[in-house]
Amino acid sequence: MNANGEAAAVADSPLIEVRDVAKYFGSVNALQGISLKVYPGEVTCVLGDNGAGKSTLIKILSGVFQPDEGEFLIDGQPVALAGPREAREHGIATVFQDLATIPLMSLWRNFFLGQEPTRGRGPLRRLDTGKARSVMRGELLKMGIDVRDPNQNVGTLSGGERQALAIARAVYFGARVLILDEPTSALGVRQSGIVLKYIVQARELGKGVIFITHNPHHAYPVGDRFYLLKRGRLMAGVEKHEVTVEGLTEMMAGGAELRELSQELMGLSADVGGAGAATVAEVARELAEEVSGPAAESSDAS
Ligand SMILES: Nc1ncnc2c1ncn2[C@@H]1O[C@H](COP(=O)(O)OP(=O)(O)OP(=O)(O)O)[C@@H](O)[C@H]1O
Ligand SMILES: [Mg+2]
Repeated sequence: MNANGEAAAVADSPLIEVRDVAKYFGSVNALQGISLKVYPGEVTCVLGDNGAGKSTLIKILSGVFQPDEGEFLIDGQPVALAGPREAREHGIATVFQDLATIPLMSLWRNFFLGQEPTRGRGPLRRLDTGKARSVMRGELLKMGIDVRDPNQNVGTLSGGERQALAIARAVYFGARVLILDEPTSALGVRQSGIVLKYIVQARELGKGVIFITHNPHHAYPVGDRFYLLKRGRLMAGVEKHEVTVEGLTEMMAGGAELRELSQELMGLSADVGGAGAATVAEVARELAEEVSGPAAESSDAS
């Protein structure tokens, strides 16, 4: 658990922190008793299955929701964010998976999205498109992407490159905390690897990165600390040296629960008989495999 997690000589104090946060939707208790810290120059991973409360948590961190209980601190000061704009003013930038970029808009337009540089004054003020293009090219080049034509549409980029554009934009506009909601969930192994590389780069720049994912094989190689959410509760908070990728997978899958379910299904398949039995047995086998570690998972993304 994270009770004494500070032991690992982190020089800086947390950029953001939540203490004992709860969130309700009517009678649904989406989050309860959530405490976590995000440090500069670290990747903080939030893991959890569907419905665990990951998006609700990042919506609190990005100012979309106010917590119903608990505290939210930025640079050690308690805050009550009125909305996403205020979060951005504090340097908290969120990259949403699907809304990150606009496919039918040019690269440079996407990069600036209404914050384009201008030249001239008063009635003569106009967009400095030349500058916008060169800034965008330069920033993407820093991330290792060589854009030939800044006028090309974002739709022509790969999924990984689109995420990179959104990350580069957030960094350029001064983000100190970068929240990425499942940036790799729709991507293949290679593209996921590209995004993971940018996550590491953002950490190297001293950003506090929050990486939401349900894939321990993506989280482990880049993460410094791991928080596991389950049905709105924090099940674990561990630092990298305290856990292995297998341990993380087992925690995610709820090893004991799955083993039990697998055994139940094995028993059931004996009762069912016929073609149905094979199907049930197959599911049971898959579950058992999941618990004992994936046989040939493609975790070689780098
Ligand atoms: N606006 C809302 N109104 C009512 N209930 C909500 C709302 N948003 C989330 N919930 C509920 O809160 C719980 C947590 O949802 P949340 O979207 O945070 O999960 P998640 O971990 O992001 O899941 P996923 O991996 O599927 O994105 C769910 O039970 C969900 O139904
Ligand atoms: Mg979600």
